[in-house]
Amino acid sequence: MASIDPVLLKSRLGELAGRFDVDALDECDSTSSELLRRAERGAPAGTVIVADRQRAGRGRRGRQWLSAPEDSLTFSLLWRFSGSAMRLSGLSLAVGVAVAKGLESLGAHGARLKWPNDVLLEQEGEFAKLAGILIELASDRRGTQAVIGIGLNLRAPTVELPQPAAGLDEAIRVLPDRHTLLAALLTALADVLQRFEEGGFAALQSEWQARHAWQGLPVRLIEDGVEEGPGICLGADSDGALLVETPVCIKRFLSGDVSLRRA
Ligand code: ATP
Ligand code: BTN
Repeated sequence: MASIDPVLLKSRLGELAGRFDVDALDECDSTSSELLRRAERGAPAGTVIVADRQRAGRGRRGRQWLSAPEDSLTFSLLWRFSGSAMRLSGLSLAVGVAVAKGLESLGAHGARLKWPNDVLLEQEGEFAKLAGILIELASDRRGTQAVIGIGLNLRAPTVELPQPAAGLDEAIRVLPDRHTLLAALLTALADVLQRFEEGGFAALQSEWQARHAWQGLPVRLIEDGVEEGPGICLGADSDGALLVETPVCIKRFLSGDVSLRRA
């Protein structure tokens, strides 16, 4: 049996329970792949798939998301937005704000945001990846649907990864149970996604900036595999574009094909 009980989760969601339709699986390939298939078959906005185990968890650009059932929370949420996909450029940043606020509401400290889709844990000036966000869009005549995939480490993965990883147990005194945790994240998402729908990323920019991991720090940029010159990271503008100050100008990056690293 899956470790999430949708009835118990609904009770934790209180008055928001009606906004979400949660399916808890023991196992699937990827909660986002499964939700994309269900969205194609007409699943309603607010559908959530949470799985204990993913056989093929995905990150950006075909990268792998690795997770062990006991040590992570992996779920995807379907949300519908009016207008075209163009309006959604800052969505992964907005979702980062929701994840950070959801964790903070439970007493977690040190969640920081890295453009465009990572939640890092800051400990004594060092940063390690706590959660990843994967946004996938599908547009139709009614607007745009987003499948929002979130992978959160409850404990740091034991497998070797190219960059440091952290667990929520390092950010909080006592790990909350899964139902409390998922309810807190969905509650924060409902609020943030509504504000994003009404005002775009501009409505959340100051909350993102306040948690920005590398504000004013030297960074390197890798665009389509090619290393760009170094610069100082200035954060995100009101469209969610990354701003980097170089010796000659301030560069603006909107594309998700850019990877950001500490210099
Ligand atoms: P970018 O800056 O381009 O986003 P990234 O390394 O953060 O680079 P993503 O595609 O955002 O890349 O995230 C996927 C990466 O996350 C994988 O390449 C892997 O290194 C790392 N990863 C996979 N599983 C975990 C995990 N459970 N915790 C932390 N990091 C992980
Ligand atoms: C990243 O850091 O690149 C994003 C990682 C997103 C991982 C989550 S886990 C739940 C959902 N299902 C997936 O296959 N990916 C996302």
